[in-house]
Amino acid sequence: MADDDYLDAVDYTRDDLDIEDLEDVKHVVRLVDVHRVFALGTNQIEAVTGVNLTVDAGDFVVVSGKSGSGKTTLLNIIGAIDLPTRGRVFVMDVPINDYDESFRASFRLNNTGFIFQSYNLVSTLTAIENVMFPMQLSEKSRAEIRDEAMSLLVSVEMEHRADHLPWQLSSGEQQRIAIARAMANDPPIILADEPTANLDGYSGQKVRDLLFELNKQDRAIIVMTHDEGIINQPNVQHYKMELGVLKQHA
Ligand SMILES: Nc1ncnc2c1ncn2[C@@H]1O[C@H](COP(=O)(O)OP(=O)(O)O)[C@@H](O)[C@H]1O
Ligand SMILES: [Mg+2]
Repeated sequence: MADDDYLDAVDYTRDDLDIEDLEDVKHVVRLVDVHRVFALGTNQIEAVTGVNLTVDAGDFVVVSGKSGSGKTTLLNIIGAIDLPTRGRVFVMDVPINDYDESFRASFRLNNTGFIFQSYNLVSTLTAIENVMFPMQLSEKSRAEIRDEAMSLLVSVEMEHRADHLPWQLSSGEQQRIAIARAMANDPPIILADEPTANLDGYSGQKVRDLLFELNKQDRAIIVMTHDEGIINQPNVQHYKMELGVLKQHA
C-alpha cells in the first residue's frame, strides 16, 4: 500500500503544477504494474503486461525486443499519448493518468520530447517552424521562440536548413530536426522510438551522438531500439520486451 500513501502525499491542482527543480523530483518516470490491453472485436491483445520500471534523471534506458512485443505501446504510455488499462504511471512524480487530455497535452509539451522512427515533422512547416511548434504555449515572444529554435537547430548542425520544408531534407536531416524539436521547452525526458531504424550509417551515428549528448545534460533518455551502437554504449540500462513483459537484460 506504499503506492497509495505516496499518492495521498501528492496534491496537485492543475494550476499550481509547476515543475522547475529536477532535484525535487523523486523519479522522472515510475511505472507500477502497467498493463495495456487492446480490444479488437472479441479479441484481446495484451500489448503490455505488468510492467514496473523506475527511471531517474540522467538514466539512459534502452528497450529492445521483437516487432509486436509492445515497445511502442509502452513508450506511448510513458509519453502520455496513450493510457494504460491498468496500473499507475508517474512522470516527474505526477500521476498523469489522473488528469484530463488538455492537461496531459500541455504536460507532454513541457516534459517529454518525442523522437519517432519516421520523424513525424509537419510537412507544411519549415524546419525552424517545426522546432518552434512545441513552444506555442510558452509566454515568450515569437522572436524569442524563433531565436531559441535557431539555437536548437545549431546544436543539431541544421541551421543552414532552417527554412527548408521536410520534403527538401534527407532522412538523416529530418531526424536531426526532429531531435531539435524534441529539445524544445528543454524537457527532462526524451523518448525515442527506433530513432535510427530508417537511417544510413552516417546519419545513424549523428543521431546516436546527439542522444548521448542529451543524456550528458542530465536528461533521462528512454529509447526503443535494436541498434547495437546504442545498446552497447557504456552506462546504458538494457531491458528486453517479450510479449508485453519487460525484463532486465542479463
Ligand atoms: N492501437 C492498437 N490497436 C490494436 N492493437 C494494437 C494497437 N497498437 C498496437 N497493437 C498491438 O499491440 C502489440 C504491440 O505493438 P507495438 O507496441 O507496436 O509493438 P512494437 O513497437 O514492439 O513493435 C501488437 O500485437 C500490435 O498489433
Ligand atoms: Mg514499435
